Formats: sequence, structure tokens, C-alpha cells
Amino acid sequence: MAAPGENLRINADRLWDSLMEMAQIGPGVAGGNNRQTLTDVDSEGRHLFKRWCEEAGLAMGVDQMGTMFARREGSDPEALPVYVGSHLDTQPTGGKYDGVLGVLGGLEIIRSLNDLDIKTKHPIVVTNWTNEEGTRFAPAMLASGVFAGVHEQEWAYQRKDAAGKTFGEELERIGWKGEEQVGSRKMHAFFELHIEQGPILEDECIDIGVVTHGQGLKWLEVTLTGKESHTGSTPMPKRRNAGLGMARVIELVHEIAMDYQPEAVGAVGHMEAHPNSRNIIAGRTVFTVDIRSPNKAVLDEMDERIRAGIETVCEALDISFGIELVGHFDPVTFDEGCVRAVREAAERLGYSHRDIVSGAGHDACWINRVAPTAMVMCPCIDGLSHNEAEEIFKDWAAAGADVLFHAVVETAGIVD
Ligand code: GLV
Ligand code: MN
Ligand code: MN
Repeated sequence: MAAPGENLRINADRLWDSLMEMAQIGPGVAGGNNRQTLTDVDSEGRHLFKRWCEEAGLAMGVDQMGTMFARREGSDPEALPVYVGSHLDTQPTGGKYDGVLGVLGGLEIIRSLNDLDIKTKHPIVVTNWTNEEGTRFAPAMLASGVFAGVHEQEWAYQRKDAAGKTFGEELERIGWKGEEQVGSRKMHAFFELHIEQGPILEDECIDIGVVTHGQGLKWLEVTLTGKESHTGSTPMPKRRNAGLGMARVIELVHEIAMDYQPEAVGAVGHMEAHPNSRNIIAGRTVFTVDIRSPNKAVLDEMDERIRAGIETVCEALDISFGIELVGHFDPVTFDEGCVRAVREAAERLGYSHRDIVSGAGHDACWINRVAPTAMVMCPCIDGLSHNEAEEIFKDWAAAGADVLFHAVVETAGIVD
């Protein structure tokens, strides 16, 4: 396809205004957002996005996982659509841009095409994937995983939040369970714009990350069971302290990740201690180990070492354990042609760029299995994300959206 002219740009002010308006829905407590998946505020955000899509002349489809697909027709009825998008759900203490930039950047492409009266050969579909974050219902990227055939839909419906509510019930309750069969859509390509969520681009003063790979991930949910007893009167040698077990495993995960620098990361994010009383030794702890690496062998070796280490910790403390794999994907290599389209778009537009590996998981990681896929990244301040203080500059968002615009329009083909 012919490349679009270098003067083709999105409307940065309009994109920014939409980001700020979406951020009004589900505000956090420190300037960010708490718009967790399948909550009332998630529904409200979806309605706003739907209204904007309809105002831009798009036709909205919703699948049985609640994923939203807003379509702008192409000139060729046979041509498969180019998909673009990300997610509108946030962490409980999330930022205004993680995911949202990719969805509203996609919408901004459509608005700009409308302004300029540009037609494309392939349709363009802007997508909001349900439950990317995985914070309320594990695993992350749940709907895109079902779409790509990685998870069974029924299994996804049975995922439970901390209050015992299932994904399926909550999807129905908020009124966003569509009719459309999940994964029935065929894609010409998929592009996702996202903030980097790490410090590399900002440190190197680079406008655009051309994402060539995504690192692999495992989430192990660990339950340690000891015995609740009095903190004052239980002799030290008689304690079966599940809290101490958790502390030792947290240390172990950190040490194991340090053994594989710079190729791995690891932490315990979610932690529960039961009964969580000041003067009771914790009888049960539940926590999630998150390990990641761009190297599959490293990821698997860390997994094995952590499992063996948990066994040793538990033996020493006379406590028992259970380990469940609640999230997993192997490292991803994005499509060469789509990656090239992103790199060439950055070059054409005069933005500085470098190849980069995504540290975070993204819907693009699953969609890459069923369609040629690539990602565009822009920097975020101090590399900070999954924090209400997550911040970017308008110019950074505009550069990312411009590159997305060019890559998508070139792939969809401009019709003269
Ligand atoms: C998704 O946000 C992840 O955990 O990488
Ligand atoms: Mn995200
Ligand atoms: Mn996230």
C-alpha cells in the first residue's frame, strides 16, 4: 500500500480532551482512576466510548465477553478489517493512560480520517478489550485470551473476584454481555498503542518505542496454611506461622529474579493474611507471585526454583502449601511486517525511535496468535505506571497516536 503523506497527523488537543474526559469516570483517590473491569464505572466508561464512536459514524458490535468493536467501513467489501485498540479498565490505583490511550488513540484515528474525508480499502475497527488488567478477575488479558482461543469462554465466566462474584454474572449485571460469538472476527492486522510503563524511552529521550517482543509471564497463586494461635502465649518453637512463610517466599522471589539480571523480574503483588488480627499468628496466607522474562527458558527455570523454594520454606516452618498457576503466557515475537510499518511510520514522521521489548502484558500479546500484530509505545514520566500518579505529556501521546495513525492507514490502504 502507498504510504500516507508525512503531513497526515491526528488532532492532539481532541485526543487529550477525550483522555481527560474519560478520566472523570471512576476517579481514584490520588488523581488517577479506579475503573476496574465489570464495575458500574466500567459500564459508564463504555457508554461514553460508545457515544463517541456513534458520533464518529461507527457501528458498534459487542461480543459475549463484552469486548467492544467499533467499525468504520472500507471501500472493499471483501477486505478484512485492520483492528486497533487496547483497554478502558484500570487497576484499583491506576493511571489515566494505561490502556485508555490505545482505545482513544484508535478513536482519534477515525475522527481524523473523517475530518480529512479519507477512505481506506480495509475497514478499521476500534476495540476495547474486556478485563485486560486481571486485577479483579485473574488472569490479565482475559477477553483477548478467549478471542485468541487460549482460554475457554466458560472457564473465563467462572473466574471469581475477591468477593466471590463471577466474571459471567458481573458481565451480565453491568449489561455488556453481547450476542456476538467470541473470536468469530477475522483480522487483517492488529495495532495497539500503549504507554511504555517503564523508564527506557524517557531516559534515552526517545519519542517512540517500536515493540518487537513482549516478555513472558507467570502468575502463581500460593496458599500457605499453618495454624492460628495467640501471638503472646504460643512458644516460638511451636508456631506454625503462615505469615513468616509468606515473608520468606517474598524474599526468595526477589533473590531468584536477581539471579537472572537483566533478563527477569519478580515480585509478590497481591497479599492476604488470615485472619489479619494484631494478636493472632496468621494461620493462612494467600499471595500471588508475578515473574516475567523475555526468555522462556529463564521463565520456566524461575518457576521451578520458586516451587522448590516454597517447599523448603514450608518444611522448615511446619506449614503446608498449595500453588495454582493463575496466569501464563510465553514471550511473544510480534509480526515483522506490522513492526516494520510502525518503524517506518516513526521514521517518516521524523520521530526518534528505538526497538523495545514490552515489560507488561498486553492484549496484543494474545491477538498476535491469530493476526499479524504490532505495538507502538510512547514514554511515560519517570516510567511510572500502575500508580495513580502515572503521567504523560500531550506531545508524547500525539506522537504515539500519529505513528499509530500512519501504521494503521498504510496497512488499511488509502483509496484515492
Ligand atoms: C498487565 O497490565 C500486566 O500485568 O502486565
Ligand atoms: Mn495496559
Ligand atoms: Mn495495566
